[in-house]
Amino acid sequence: MKGPKLLLFAHAEEVAAAAAQAVAQRLSEAAGQHGSASIVLAGGGTPKELYRRLATDYRHDVPWDRVRFFWGDERVVPLDDERSNYHMARESLLDGLPMRSERVHPMPTHLAPGLAADAYERTLRSHFASDWPRFDLVLLGVGADGHTASLFPASPALQESTHWVVATTAPVEPRDRVTLTLPALLGAAGIFVLATGASKAGAIGRALATEADPQCPASFISTAQGAVAWWLDVEAGAHLPPRDSS
Ligand code: 6PG
Repeated sequence: MKGPKLLLFAHAEEVAAAAAQAVAQRLSEAAGQHGSASIVLAGGGTPKELYRRLATDYRHDVPWDRVRFFWGDERVVPLDDERSNYHMARESLLDGLPMRSERVHPMPTHLAPGLAADAYERTLRSHFASDWPRFDLVLLGVGADGHTASLFPASPALQESTHWVVATTAPVEPRDRVTLTLPALLGAAGIFVLATGASKAGAIGRALATEADPQCPASFISTAQGAVAWWLDVEAGAHLPPRDSS
């Protein structure tokens, strides 16, 4: 298993610019190799600039109509709610891309959380015939507490080894969440973790210093079989553990 690739940049804008180029390249390669590409989008605020750049600088560089869009997690709010991860991606990325709406698979947050999780798992299983989904690229953010997607510290969802999607609760509003589970997320061919700002330095340091610590869900990312790249600004990377010199 290869170690994670750590990519540090002076400012968040540079992280977004470099990551946008890598995302565009990865999706184009995947679509060229097997006819279509699948990406899991992250929510929160960090990916917004990355998404904006994809929709503008790379609008004509990627066969977007051969990309399928999924979400790694969602807040259980209406899809037009400002707090929705789908809403954020619609506004910053999807509305600007030349593609059919059927390529976009939002979580059905009009359902109760458990039913939404079951329904989304059925959606994923209709696109991936394997034991676990194998996305071409998964984008993940990291919270200051070490959560990723909506997998929060000490959550029972971290132990899930059967379901691809589960309902869970967050310690902050909106509390009702639906999230992909670790096996569903970490079976991807590629994972890009995006984190910027000093508030993330502790979580990033812990995530990269330990492996599979339920108190820091982002630490599980290093157990992924695929290629993992951490896209960080120097503030978020301020507490990186010393690199193995071998
Ligand atoms: C969410 C995200 C979550 C996010 C982190 C970081 O639903 O909030 O999926 O996992 O990536 O909380 O959020 P920021 O990018 O806003 O710091």
